[in-house]
Amino acid sequence: MSKNSDAVGVIGVGWVGLVTAVCFAELGHQVVARDILPEKIEALSRGETTIHEPGLEEMLRRNAERITFTTEMAELLERARLLFVCVDTPPTYSGDADLSRVRTVVDNLPAGGGHVLVMKSTVPAGTGNSIRRDLPDLAYVSCPEFLKEGSAVEDFMHPDRVVVGTDPGDEAAAAAVAALYEPLGGTIHRTDVASAEMIKLASNAFLATKISFINEIANVCEEVGADVAEVAEGMGLDQRIGSSFLRAGIGYGGSCFPKDVSALKMLAGNTGYHFQLLTAVIEVNELQKRRVVGKLEKHLGSLIGKRVALLGLAFKPDTDDMREASSLVLAARLQGEGAEVVAFDPVATGRASELLDSVEMAGSALEALDGADAAVLVTEWPEFAELDWADVAGRMAQALIIDGRNFLDAATLRAAGFDYEGIGKPQVAPAPAASE
Ligand SMILES: NC(=O)c1ccc[n+]([C@@H]2O[C@H](COP(=O)([O-])OP(=O)(O)OC[C@H]3O[C@@H](n4cnc5c(N)ncnc54)[C@H](O)[C@@H]3O)[C@@H](O)[C@H]2O)c1
Repeated sequence: MSKNSDAVGVIGVGWVGLVTAVCFAELGHQVVARDILPEKIEALSRGETTIHEPGLEEMLRRNAERITFTTEMAELLERARLLFVCVDTPPTYSGDADLSRVRTVVDNLPAGGGHVLVMKSTVPAGTGNSIRRDLPDLAYVSCPEFLKEGSAVEDFMHPDRVVVGTDPGDEAAAAAVAALYEPLGGTIHRTDVASAEMIKLASNAFLATKISFINEIANVCEEVGADVAEVAEGMGLDQRIGSSFLRAGIGYGGSCFPKDVSALKMLAGNTGYHFQLLTAVIEVNELQKRRVVGKLEKHLGSLIGKRVALLGLAFKPDTDDMREASSLVLAARLQGEGAEVVAFDPVATGRASELLDSVEMAGSALEALDGADAAVLVTEWPEFAELDWADVAGRMAQALIIDGRNFLDAATLRAAGFDYEGIGKPQVAPAPAASE
């Protein structure tokens, strides 16, 4: 190892890796960030971010001279002792986490190099111990990432907690990792490697459970004339419950919740334990993405030939990430029922068109809504609340909107002439379905 090995190393420059690299540079560190994709490295070296994250591009440009982007592993190993592994761990067909990219990284590390492997990728509990067994010379720290897409920079710079897991013998490595995060001020939770790995999976599974729970409450609210927003607010005032993650909608998506819930369920299953609760959480989420179809049919009758405009495609606002987005399931279901689907998203249209090639991508919300028989708000981008809805009502073939995120103001929409339906909201009798 070179004497000058005090740079922070980052392996895998996706959402987590890029934010980690840029934020550590912002904190004053030299950073060497390595990815296997040359086009990504070239774009980043020019100061162009490859993902949409508020504040990230400015921070990258501000710190450009502190970050080296490279495809060369040798350069990273030469300059950095702490190696933050941020490669993707997508789901396999079996629902387990695919650790092949993590394995590739580990298998290419030099023996006895004095490096510290800091695992930020989300991996099943037990992974760290197995890597440590294979590479006994390596120091290993589990430091799972909790950032949220859409507020990733903010989350990195102001963490609630930083989990640092290590096993006996690696205390100095854990202290070095903890020291990097200390200036950020969050609680540093020191624990063992397997528990750190479980904290990540259990946290995401718990949040997903909260979402599926409130979605089921919403579905019951629709039957009994209650308003889920009122219910959630009243529940959230109880400090034991808390108000976060109690927004009903058309299901969670993204690169983390679906795969981490599934990975934890499978991890348990592989040990012979049937995690019943997570099985239900997953099923509720899948059904929730489809409920909009029934709502549209209630108003429109058959969807054959009906033009449905999707407002938003990304799995949440402020990101262009389309992984496991509810819009993918919804668009497929609507097309399956014979609807013509047109969509607009302020930033995700490019990524989305690779996945939704039979969906017409509009250049603006108004273009998508023009002549549509119904609109579905899929992603709560703030600009959708700013639309002149009275004008929109005049442009649409039928002024019908299903608000999949309970984001728009129902009274404003109804005053503008819309049939408005949210999720878990008191029902207003629909206008009779138009005869064919
Ligand atoms: N995205 C999130 O919000 C988030 C939040 C917390 C944790 N995580 C976890 O962090 C990990 C990374 O997620 P992500 O969303 O950043 O993934 P991503 O797909 O956006 O990025 C992964 C990057 O790793 C690169 N890569 C793959 N193999 C490589 C190798 N051998 N060497 C160097 N680079 C390699 C890929 O080219 C890609 O650029 C996952 O385990 C994920 O579960 C993600």
